[in-house]
Amino acid sequence: MKILLLGSGGREHALAWKIAQSPKVEKLYIAPGNAGTALTGENVSIKADDFEALKDFCVEKGVDMVVVGPEDPLVKGIYDDFKNDPRTKDIPVIGPSKKGAVLEGSKDFAKGFMERHNIPTAKYRTFDGTSLEEGLKFLETLKAPYVLKADGLCAGKGVLILPTLEEAKKELKEMLGGMFGNASAQVVIEEFLSGIECSVFVLTDGKNYKILPEAKDYKRIGEHDTGLNTGGMGSVTPVPFATEEWMKKVEDRIIRPTVEGLAEEEIDYKGFIFFGLINVEGNPMVIEYNCRMGDPETESVMLRIKSDLVDLLEGVAEGNLDEREIVFDERAAVCVMLVSGGYPEKYVKGYPISGVENVEGSIVFHSGTALKDGETVTNGGRVIAVSSYGKDKEEALRKSFTEAGKINFTDKYFRRDIGQDL
Ligand code: AMP
Ligand code: GLY
Repeated sequence: MKILLLGSGGREHALAWKIAQSPKVEKLYIAPGNAGTALTGENVSIKADDFEALKDFCVEKGVDMVVVGPEDPLVKGIYDDFKNDPRTKDIPVIGPSKKGAVLEGSKDFAKGFMERHNIPTAKYRTFDGTSLEEGLKFLETLKAPYVLKADGLCAGKGVLILPTLEEAKKELKEMLGGMFGNASAQVVIEEFLSGIECSVFVLTDGKNYKILPEAKDYKRIGEHDTGLNTGGMGSVTPVPFATEEWMKKVEDRIIRPTVEGLAEEEIDYKGFIFFGLINVEGNPMVIEYNCRMGDPETESVMLRIKSDLVDLLEGVAEGNLDEREIVFDERAAVCVMLVSGGYPEKYVKGYPISGVENVEGSIVFHSGTALKDGETVTNGGRVIAVSSYGKDKEEALRKSFTEAGKINFTDKYFRRDIGQDL
């Protein structure tokens, strides 16, 4: 098979690493990829949302399957675009239709969907510019802290959690006043939920589903969850509180109703569903849906899938996922993210990265790197994920921290407390 994978981050390097291990794969292309994906396949310099160029490429090279890493092409409708073009209608795109991607693309839609299908989530109401006054009044009925969410995609920045009513009112006015452009033309205000978060991933063919290993990610820049939110500073799988009993609740109350709900609403969905969950006194509730894998969760989750991922993806494409098997690795897996100093605020790109060749026993996934005159250089806030196996998370983390020390670039930073709260 010839596979084209879209994206350019650590998630895509981890997916590429796993896909390339499949005996079914004859050729793996990554568009646009990064310096790391170039080691597992061939990078193609086409942007992940340039559908015309991607279709031309697929036709020219005889690509058999497209796997979409990031949400952006999905929300823009790559699935439908390939399907509606006679040249590419038979090339499966792993990822939901545009309608399905709205689960991530609109918080208001996602909340409405959960309400329609009785899926546990925080109570909420949605407001727009015409209902600002009602929004302010609604805030008065809630208890602190206040959760405000821009309806649309904001690259992970659209959620504000405010400690006081005053700040919440001020931010609501600013959001509806265009703080995030069109993405905050509508704002979801919801009840604050208190608990530990857990990311659960599912592959679905629209009818059947397979649950992948769950993971916990670490979003804040500072140790002990302090400071600004980032794209993610590390991840751990398995998650101790995600016991068999808890996962059964997740499956019965959340996963199955979601997959059935999508089918009922005639939403074409063949791809990954990412359930951002929170454990509220033993009961899982949904914080958000994403229509793709998580980053940096993928950089640990892929290590724990023993089965051939491409076989599962074929099951998704062919609608016979129930005939495929998913086997987990019994070991723990973690990833520790090395980031540029200053991230998630201002940071410098283009520093040479050295020492990757000295890493032993861990797997290095490139997140924000580029090749410049034959040299690997930093090219983003999150630079490299150091992933490891261990008999437990402690052993895996020790390995990642040791190996992380061998990789060098100016102003490198990483959190040393990943996994400590579990
Ligand atoms: P989201 O983009 O929806 O995942 O929100 C970003 C982060 O905000 C989540 O990972 C949570 O840590 C936090 N968050 C979102 N909604 C809530 C809520 N209702 N209660 C508590 N924390 C929340
Ligand atoms: N790790 C969270 C995300 O990928 O959105």
